[in-house]
Amino acid sequence: MLFCILAILITIGHFNFVVFLHNWFYSKPFPRLLGDLIQATHILFGFFGLFFIYILTLKTESFLIAPHIDLLPDAFLGYGLFCSFVAAILFPINELFRNCWALSPYLYRQISSFFDYENHFVMNKPFNFLNDSFKLEIVSAEISTEFLPVNSQLKILHISDFHFGGNDNYAYYQFVLAQIDAEVYDFAFFTGDLVDNVAFLRWVVPLLKKIKTKHGKFAVLGNHDLWNDPDMVRKYLRKAGFTCLSDQWCSIEYEGKRIGIFGNEFPWFSKKLPDLSSDVYDIKILLTHSPDEFFWAANQKFNLMFCGHVHGGQISLPFFGPLLIPSKFGRRFGSGFFSNSGMIMHVSRGLAGSFPLRINCKPEVTILSLVSKQVLL
Ligand SMILES: [Fe+2]
Repeated sequence: MLFCILAILITIGHFNFVVFLHNWFYSKPFPRLLGDLIQATHILFGFFGLFFIYILTLKTESFLIAPHIDLLPDAFLGYGLFCSFVAAILFPINELFRNCWALSPYLYRQISSFFDYENHFVMNKPFNFLNDSFKLEIVSAEISTEFLPVNSQLKILHISDFHFGGNDNYAYYQFVLAQIDAEVYDFAFFTGDLVDNVAFLRWVVPLLKKIKTKHGKFAVLGNHDLWNDPDMVRKYLRKAGFTCLSDQWCSIEYEGKRIGIFGNEFPWFSKKLPDLSSDVYDIKILLTHSPDEFFWAANQKFNLMFCGHVHGGQISLPFFGPLLIPSKFGRRFGSGFFSNSGMIMHVSRGLAGSFPLRINCKPEVTILSLVSKQVLL
């Protein structure tokens, strides 16, 4: 009985540790090759470790039944005890508190519309029967705020992670844009990873120029843009009407309020997070690629933060949620809305990825309506 319980705990603990290592390492600004090498090492370590579960369990069981201090330097025993501790203590605590930053006091209404591109076209893609890669979800969310002028509303389009080239189906992107380009938004924000291959930059202008706004379109770049040609990515984004913000503010007057939009590309382009706490605007909006700046942004007194990068994990298990989230906070900020100290963050699952496989994790476009509290009363 003890053997069975330990074997399950050690397997869960080992699995959790490998996922933690992957997420933490992959949040770092390593060059692409090194990142891929680290990822391959984790996959090998993950699967290789499973072969030793029997020995790990045997050693851990005999130690727990009759503890011998002379057994402690044993690497198998050490790892077995560590995995048991992770599975029995750390994993449940983490699961309990993982959603404590979820947005509840501000989210007034959220409605999703689903558009199945597969109904319109036939295509080849891996794991076809499970793959959600072309099942678009348009999230329309209403957020009540105190920082907007009385009786006003701001409509923001948030798009992210287009990965042109990783997904080489132009008709899919045309299909997505056709669902969102009829409306005129107050702002449009793109939060990085435009291309996986510079040859596909030719898609940028015909697709993204269609997005219409009253007060501007703004973008930051992501790690995949850095690994390609960031100067060219910025050039094409500008041609499509976007203002690229790289550690810069853009100030906009809106109904007597000053809105400051700051684009931050840490850790891939800038190496240090700046101190912006004394930069005063009526409404402070942050665009980043990664959700890892969540706590820093709240300290800098931002009202809103938009990001992508983590793709919702691309594979999300029922009940358990996403596994592989390249963030130093692990699986905490996989997708959706989060809040801290009055700041609201939206993490987009993005539209695509380097590899067109999504299971239980649909591509996402978000239309966010910020509504002053008086409108909702
Ligand atoms: Fe991405």
